Amino acid sequence: MADNFYITTPIYYVNDEPHIGHAYTTIAADVIARFNRLLGRDTFFLTGTDEHGQKLQDTAASRGMEPGAYCDEIVKRFIDIWDKLNISNNDFIRTTQERHKKVVQHILQKLYDEEEIYKGSYEGWYCKYEERFWTEKDLVEGNCPDCGRPVNRIVEENYFFKMGQRREWLIDYIKAHPDFIRPEFRANEVIGYLNQGLADLCISRPKTRLSWGIELPFDKDYVCYVWFDALLNYVTAPGYLDNPGNFQKWWPEAIHLIGKDILTTHAVYWPCMLNAAGLPMPKTIFAHGWWLMEDTKMSKSLGNVVRPLDLADVYGVDPFRYFLMREMTMGHDSSYSEEAFINRYNSDLANDFGNLVSRLTKMIASYCGKKLPAPDEKQEADLEIERNAVNLNEKVVGLIDDFKIYMAIEETLQLVRLLNRYIENNRPWQLAKQGDIKRLGTVLYTACEGLRIAGRFLYPVMPAKIAEFSQTFGIGVDTLKSEESLKWGFLKPGIDINVSSGLFPRIEQKKKPAVEPEKKKTKEEKEEFIDFEDFKKLKLKTALIEEAEKIEGADKLLKLQVNLGSEKRQVVAGIAQHYTPEQLVGKTIIVIANLKPAKIRGVESNGMLMAAKDKNGLRLLTVDGEIKPGSGIS
Ligand code: MSP
Repeated sequence: MADNFYITTPIYYVNDEPHIGHAYTTIAADVIARFNRLLGRDTFFLTGTDEHGQKLQDTAASRGMEPGAYCDEIVKRFIDIWDKLNISNNDFIRTTQERHKKVVQHILQKLYDEEEIYKGSYEGWYCKYEERFWTEKDLVEGNCPDCGRPVNRIVEENYFFKMGQRREWLIDYIKAHPDFIRPEFRANEVIGYLNQGLADLCISRPKTRLSWGIELPFDKDYVCYVWFDALLNYVTAPGYLDNPGNFQKWWPEAIHLIGKDILTTHAVYWPCMLNAAGLPMPKTIFAHGWWLMEDTKMSKSLGNVVRPLDLADVYGVDPFRYFLMREMTMGHDSSYSEEAFINRYNSDLANDFGNLVSRLTKMIASYCGKKLPAPDEKQEADLEIERNAVNLNEKVVGLIDDFKIYMAIEETLQLVRLLNRYIENNRPWQLAKQGDIKRLGTVLYTACEGLRIAGRFLYPVMPAKIAEFSQTFGIGVDTLKSEESLKWGFLKPGIDINVSSGLFPRIEQKKKPAVEPEKKKTKEEKEEFIDFEDFKKLKLKTALIEEAEKIEGADKLLKLQVNLGSEKRQVVAGIAQHYTPEQLVGKTIIVIANLKPAKIRGVESNGMLMAAKDKNGLRLLTVDGEIKPGSGIS
């Protein structure tokens, strides 16, 4: 393993609400980064946000904001949440940053100049929500196969990247590099996908449809496809254009940690893009599984997400980090439940680890005056602890390098459990009673050293709690993390030991979960209510249509003269395709009488009539029987 270590998370869509799925990838990357720093490797940990594309443009527009200003506002959600979850990223990249735009345009121009990008005509089904083109056979009941929403038939000129010609090269590369796509079964999935053929990739979107993106440097009428732009973040941040030295140092070591949902873009598009740009491949793409809620993926559109801070606020950041890392077998799916969270917390943290810290420090306080006793002659049981503690480093390093965080934690917890059994078997309380000071000293010293070493390996998972734990031995967390602290015998007899009893207090299983998943609002719930006062502002009146005529040059409009009792008014209405002028004269309709006058196609309109519409057409609202024109409606 090289001494430089570079790990990335996906860059998250900035308009998504962060949930435990996003938190999982980011915490896993953080734990791996912290482990690598612990090993003395120079580490670069990158996360960030993906800020271009149709969805963003639409959401910003629906809030009446410029997309850029909207991104600036909501990116804080991710920055804040990572801060609260103690994420130790070295850089945070936003695809709207100038440094990134420069890289994307540079690569686009280079590929265009080298004829890796060409212009062609495209006809297909486009899903604006997924921002993807589909072929007829991809569609499911005529809808987008990914999100189930309607698609539009689009024929347009676009730019294409010559991805298809790299199919065989990529298959060979994956086969020759078993570490490239992990776990192995994901590599097989990618090969299966490639075996079905590989088309060129449409990498542009015409500005007439989407303007929120990075402009193609060779054609100002287009912006870059959001994935082509987003993937390049991984080379922008280490300095592809502005810091070649750094880039050389980090890029070849890159490890992309992603969820299985974005495997194709990372394991197919991205290697082809790098290959065309003449850049080396990342070292590894590791795809983990999903957090499920009752067997379905957690996602905002399904309305079953658990927000990370809800859990962390109730139970603490470090227990939350611990649960996510220990519970999921990295690479496979896992189901979330608060019950599982509490069980895991109580068994591992409260019972096994927290209890041991508290029992041991209390015994040292009462039998040894709060001073760490000196060890005496070692017996086999003591040597067993020493061996296990000393060997833990090698085991953990191997497991972390193999992305098995959950097993690295389990190995550490096994040492903790061994220590608990050791205490039970060697009964320090009896040794104290018998006055066997020498044996008592050996047992308490051995247990303390074992515990300290176990705690050290939990640091990457629970940095704040382990900093607190290091105070038990009167050493700072930096000392606990140091390389010398790996050695058996690091703690000197005679040092002060502080009693620590509140590290992980037990949690009672609750009948009702403290953290409910955020339910998707039903349409009715989303509908905003207005006060009666607001309704009263509308002046609705009956009006008798006395005259109606077409407006020249406007197929949809009719000009009506209506009688409102005390006054006559002219109203312009878009109903020409549903009523002829003759059908209208003599009808009593409903108009909004206090709407600001407006000119429609140059014709003055003083009010608006009301009509109901469905897919078969439009019908005017009228009254049920005789009533005077100008009557109020309430
Ligand atoms: N913007 C793209 C990624 C571009 S990377 C060049 C994107 N963003 S995302 O906001 O949708 O984040 C997707 C990632 O969030 C997944 O790959 C995964 O890492 C994480 N998760 C989202 N939901 C998840 C679960 N339910 N479970 C586990 N992780 C999941 O895709």
